[in-house]
Amino acid sequence: MCGIVGYVGKSQAAPVLLDGLAKLEYRGYDSAGMAVYDGNKIAFEKALGRLKVLSEKTHDGETMPGTIGIGHTRWATHGEPSEINSHPHLNESETIAVVHNGIIENYAKLKDKLISRGYSFKSQTDTEVVAHLLDYYYKGDPLEAITKVMHRVEGSYALGIIFAEHPDEIFAVRKDSPLIVGRGKDGNLIASDVPAVLKYTRNVYFIDNGEIAHLTEDAIDFFDVDGQPIEKESKTIEWDAEAASKGGYEYFMEKEIHEQPKTIRDTLSHHVKDGKVNIEGFNMSEDDMRQISRIRIVACGSAYHTGVTAKYIYEGMCRIPVECDLASEFRYRNPILDPNELVVIISQSGETADSKAALIYAKEQGIRTLAIVNVEGSSIARDADIVVLTYAGPEIAVATTKAYSAQLMTHYLLAISFGKALGKVSEEDEAKYIQSMRKLPEQIEMVLNNKERIQRFANRYVTAHDVYFIGRGVDYAISLEASLKLKEISYIHSEAYAAGELKHGTISLIEEGTLVGAVCTQKELLPKSISNIVEVKSRGAFVIAVTTVGNTEVEEVADYVMYIPETDQYFTNSLAIIPLQLFAYYVTLGKGFDVDKPRNLAKSVTVE
Ligand code: F6R
Repeated sequence: MCGIVGYVGKSQAAPVLLDGLAKLEYRGYDSAGMAVYDGNKIAFEKALGRLKVLSEKTHDGETMPGTIGIGHTRWATHGEPSEINSHPHLNESETIAVVHNGIIENYAKLKDKLISRGYSFKSQTDTEVVAHLLDYYYKGDPLEAITKVMHRVEGSYALGIIFAEHPDEIFAVRKDSPLIVGRGKDGNLIASDVPAVLKYTRNVYFIDNGEIAHLTEDAIDFFDVDGQPIEKESKTIEWDAEAASKGGYEYFMEKEIHEQPKTIRDTLSHHVKDGKVNIEGFNMSEDDMRQISRIRIVACGSAYHTGVTAKYIYEGMCRIPVECDLASEFRYRNPILDPNELVVIISQSGETADSKAALIYAKEQGIRTLAIVNVEGSSIARDADIVVLTYAGPEIAVATTKAYSAQLMTHYLLAISFGKALGKVSEEDEAKYIQSMRKLPEQIEMVLNNKERIQRFANRYVTAHDVYFIGRGVDYAISLEASLKLKEISYIHSEAYAAGELKHGTISLIEEGTLVGAVCTQKELLPKSISNIVEVKSRGAFVIAVTTVGNTEVEEVADYVMYIPETDQYFTNSLAIIPLQLFAYYVTLGKGFDVDKPRNLAKSVTVE
């Protein structure tokens, strides 16, 4: 996954491009580059490493004059991270420059053909094929060349293209990779994602597959894959520019952890009306809900973890059967689908390749799909039968926090709606649930106020080698997330187990000083969880427990206890995740790693 930007307008382009790329660095950060038309020719700069290397090389863009340009931040797929492989890629005469997000699947075949026609290649990338192919087809009309290229290349792409002979124009094309166009006051922009343009405009167009955008300083036109003009409507984005900046925090992850109370308030204000869950927000009637035989949740990573939590909630609260599938496994195991089931796809980005493929697969089988998505206009949001947006705002840190919380909230609200439709949740139950949910933001703030204590503790564990998380029921679901959070950013090996499962093998790994995180918020399961703590303690583990205020018996067995305020049994994950996110954050900070951009990871995984 990579990020692309483009700008044409009154201002100097390079600083605008760098600013946009900084918002997209979550999409890839192994190298970056820019191409601008400087009045005479296309000038370009590339740099290996983080964006700041490119910024330094160009003195924050100052050394690159010109008011039109394209930029790229890369996460290598074809060809190692290197200056030569970084974008933009140009034709041999350096009159056409291209930035690309996606994968050109038939690039090897096209490359052979182009070589046989005398073209030579500098990089190992699939993208360079596009630059040469454009050169091959370009006879003075960029649109004609672009449509010809679109008919020849297979795979996924969002492309930003400039031509030296058309120095006031940017072209952008999309197929299966996200692309938006922003209409600004002092110029127009293209980008892979909305945060990159928020500083300049909230008026955006979501480009669809097979569409071409043509931008000049004061006009934006659209064409289909055959070069025929089409009309598109713009949308006003609710997110504000501040949401995509660090706002005084050291890292986006820290900021996003602190934004969770707001996320919950925003979710409630969108879905609760007059003290009741507004079923209209889910685009399903109670009758529709009653006809659903089973809910099948399909997602990846943390989004999948919210699905694991949700399974306990839908089944417990509504008595409706739920299956949870990893999106990467789902369609390859020939699943037995019921025509009346509802496939729920969960995705922050709305662009995750496996989740997207699972959605398409379910639709092809004639199954109704509902997507819980954070990014409006994303592929999954566009393809699902029913879309429920989450209200986390832009999430920039690679490790998800607030989008995770927003997904949990959406499940709670959906579960209440299903429960009401199925006669399992009474009006009194609903009122009680809503009251509990309304307290969550303040309760999260209480946990956040204790962060220094968590930081002090985390600092003692920066050298840990292995950390195990255990829990039962929804506490197992949160253990999965706590473990992922810790390992993905701190690189400490970590695993999560259903607490009762540990003794079936893994307990042999517990030795003197091994850190075990025990989540035990569920009152009914507390005696069992305490037994599991004792089991690991007696093998030498050092146990940190997360439990609800009042469960003082946990202090007798655990070495260190983090308390969360009391809430409904179904909603504890919204609180228990906070100290665990903070723990992962502070351990990583203590290790001196870049919290927002862990190695080898990108924010949305657009390859299978
Ligand atoms: C972990 C994380 C990932 C994502 C997963 C799915 O912190 O963010 O595990 O949850 O890659 O991404 P989306 O939700 O964009 O489909």
